[in-house]
Amino acid sequence: MNANLPNYTLNDESTLPMIGFGTYHEEFGNNLLPIKAAIDCGYRFFDTASLYETEKYLGQAIKESGIPRKEFIIETKLWIDEADDPRAALERSLKRLQMDYVDLYLIHWPRATEDNTDHWKEKNQKTWTQMEDLVKEGKVRHLGLSNFLPHHLKNILDHASIKPVVDQLEIHPGYSQDAAVSFCKENKVLPMAWSPLGRGHSKAPEGNAILSELAEKYQKSTAQISLRFLLQKGTLPIPKASSPEHIKANLDVFDFELTEEELWMLTCMPQTAGLGEHPDFSIPKMKSNPENI
Ligand SMILES: NC(=O)c1ccc[n+]([C@@H]2O[C@H](COP(=O)([O-])OP(=O)(O)OC[C@H]3O[C@@H](n4cnc5c(N)ncnc54)[C@H](OP(=O)(O)O)[C@@H]3O)[C@@H](O)[C@H]2O)c1
Repeated sequence: MNANLPNYTLNDESTLPMIGFGTYHEEFGNNLLPIKAAIDCGYRFFDTASLYETEKYLGQAIKESGIPRKEFIIETKLWIDEADDPRAALERSLKRLQMDYVDLYLIHWPRATEDNTDHWKEKNQKTWTQMEDLVKEGKVRHLGLSNFLPHHLKNILDHASIKPVVDQLEIHPGYSQDAAVSFCKENKVLPMAWSPLGRGHSKAPEGNAILSELAEKYQKSTAQISLRFLLQKGTLPIPKASSPEHIKANLDVFDFELTEEELWMLTCMPQTAGLGEHPDFSIPKMKSNPENI
């Protein structure tokens, strides 16, 4: 089954299904089942990263599905410690995915050091230029960014000959990142929402009450209200789920519409801190695992 989701049109006129499937690893382990269940439910756009160590399971699930590779949109990312050599990083990812190209290749994180200098700017420009070569060689179809706030994104836009099509940011009710979302939209870069369900919980009780009220009104779950909110804000959510019910329910968000007032209420929910590290102030300590092939 292909869910035939509506699409977003990107700045290069290509399209992306309005909902993707996240594969950030904790519950996945070496478990292919959630990815297989997602394929069966009709998801065709999958997000992974060299850091997640789920590329190989995604590749295997796609191969075993018997569905042609070209029907899938595969997005992966290079990690901080791979940024000097995107070609080698991509080769490792392709090997794990058992593929000869990826649809979207993203820089996972904008800053690799905590110092206050502008070294990250030059570094990101160099990485980007090398990634542009990978597009010209047909190994990557489109380029994108992840966790790039407006100042990081502008640095790429000012130097790119191939424009990023997406910027993946932490966005969910209670962490709406309006400045970054607006900047993306003004520059025709599609904001993609990671942890769109706040990892399945919210730190803001008042926010939960709003979500619960709306869930009651529309006879949907609070997760579905969150996803609908993100869609109506013009962002592309990539929820992860391991339960078959959740996997299915997360696509069932196209038969109702939140009012403008409800969108404002959700946008103005008490803002929680982000669940992840802040791109400027806290550098993730994780390292990629080049042995993981
Ligand atoms: N670029 C980045 O730096 C970055 C960072 C983090 C994540 N990401 C990407 O974003 C994806 C999604 O983010 P995430 O995995 O952190 O969190 P998430 O999608 O916000 O939340 C996942 C959690 O929500 C639960 N859930 C899913 N659907 C549900 C539903 N319909 N009702 C109730 N609970 C539901 C899941 O439970 P079950 O598993 O039990 O179904 C799981 O515990 C990741 O997998 C990854 O691909 C990117």
